[in-house]
Amino acid sequence: MTAERVCGLSELEQDTPLRVDPGGVAITVIKDGDGVVHAIGDTCTHGEISLSEGFVEGDTVECWAHGSAFSLITGVPQNLPAYEPVPVYVVVIDGDDVLIDPTVIKEV
Ligand code: FES
Repeated sequence: MTAERVCGLSELEQDTPLRVDPGGVAITVIKDGDGVVHAIGDTCTHGEISLSEGFVEGDTVECWAHGSAFSLITGVPQNLPAYEPVPVYVVVIDGDDVLIDPTVIKEV
């Protein structure tokens, strides 16, 4: 699979998660305070909760259900109850297009 456009860069509001589904894979896209766009697996590893409904704090997104905060850089939860990481995806910015290939998981 090749990277596909998931949204426009100008559509992303700082620290506001957006759920996208390239190739049927649920991914949360977040533009951080430095303007860097991150893409991590959307489903909390502790439960079937969408991280796009969570709260961004610095370089983490916190699951609203039980408070595990996942790193936007590594996908690793910073606190319990979740202990397994979510995948991190490579993001390509092409003009105003945000592109993600859901088959390419970032080595972190
Ligand atoms: S479902 Fe996300 S921390 Fe429990």
